[in-house]
Amino acid sequence: MDAWIGRIPVVHRPYNTPSSSRILIFFKMKPGDIAEAGLSGSPESMDGGMAAGERKPLLRALGGEAVWPPPMWLMRQAGRYLPEYRAVREKAGGFIALCTTPELASEVTIQPIRRYGMDGAILFSDILMVPWAMGQGLAFAEGEGPVLDPIRDAAGLAALDPTNLRARAAPIFETVRLTRAALEAQAPRVTLIGFAGSPWTVAAYMVEGRGSKDFRAARSLAYEDPATFGRLIRLLVDATTDYLLAQIEAGAEVVMLFDSWAGMLPPSQFRRWVIEPSAAILRNVKRLHPSIPVIGFPRLAGPLIGEYAQRTAVSAVAMDTAMDPRFAARAVPAHVALQGNLDPLSLIAGGVALETEARQILAAMRGRPFIFNLGHGIEKETPPEHVTQLVRIVRSGG
Ligand code: CP3
Repeated sequence: MDAWIGRIPVVHRPYNTPSSSRILIFFKMKPGDIAEAGLSGSPESMDGGMAAGERKPLLRALGGEAVWPPPMWLMRQAGRYLPEYRAVREKAGGFIALCTTPELASEVTIQPIRRYGMDGAILFSDILMVPWAMGQGLAFAEGEGPVLDPIRDAAGLAALDPTNLRARAAPIFETVRLTRAALEAQAPRVTLIGFAGSPWTVAAYMVEGRGSKDFRAARSLAYEDPATFGRLIRLLVDATTDYLLAQIEAGAEVVMLFDSWAGMLPPSQFRRWVIEPSAAILRNVKRLHPSIPVIGFPRLAGPLIGEYAQRTAVSAVAMDTAMDPRFAARAVPAHVALQGNLDPLSLIAGGVALETEARQILAAMRGRPFIFNLGHGIEKETPPEHVTQLVRIVRSGG
């Protein structure tokens, strides 16, 4: 089947079949692009200098190796700060349309790789596509963020249809397939990262119906009707497992669990609604794919980060902006990689502030398995050339 990525035709095929020369076209990086991004690979080769049999840097770090300079990618690296993203977003018409049009979603997944030569490409989608695929009403209102038809009781829960998830989310898995084929053909050093939201964070949006400073409706439901809330969490454990397995089957090499609102909970609730459901998803995924690395992001977990790492058995823990990397290095077992945690606002600032912050993180993480990233998603006000500056700093090893 033929398709179009941007204005260039490509051939759909599974990532592990021989690539068509027509796939090669759309991923073209000029040698100058690679040099400009400060990449470690040979500027002459389009593949960033990967020798046969060599393992990808991001996968080596996730396997417990202290790779240096560390591999890097940035949360929300595809997004509105990039003019080329805004152009595709406009063409797609809406955010959900963009997430469910594989050729366009794959194109924006690859944009930051083409521009900066990141080590990881994160699937372009959203954590709220899981409730959407189960039939919950979802819209992304301009300037307002996500809006869902809130679920507050057993009747709301009963209206969800998890059996429909794989069919409705099929375009997302097709994005994974297309993107993996493109990367294998043209950027074999780059690791494709799939993702989902963790049950707690997704449930928080499902119950609240929108973003919130404190997610009171969700936190209250968990205390006042733990049976209903527990059923929602169990449903999400199964749906998220299924959703991640489909991404892995389509070619995702790593998966990440985003728990952006983990830090809203007291320790007892954190164990019950963050650690236990995440651990269950990892057990389920590992039963079928024992060697797939999983990155967990328990944002604002604070001192519970070590317990989270041990009890979920993640391969890496993503540190939020407030986490002290030296504390995390002591709290998290040495074989578990750390990821993070530059303040996205220092990336907007650029210059000396950016350089100082980035080098401090590099100094704290040297000698242990580490992946450079931000402590939260990139902000839309970020000047793209500040990301180029950051890539140079990280590639120099600090
Ligand atoms: O580049 C990438 O990181 C991959 C794509 C990605 C998006 N969202 C795209 C997106 C990923 C991994 C996410 C995760 C996500 N989505 C999280 C967890 C991480 C975090 O940021 O805490 C959460 C909580 C969401 C829910 C969500 N989606 C919100 C709150 C918003 C609105 C905020 C905003 O920035 O507008 C979104 C929309 C969204 N998801 C955008 C993007 C690029 C902006 C939408 C647009 O283009 O209009």
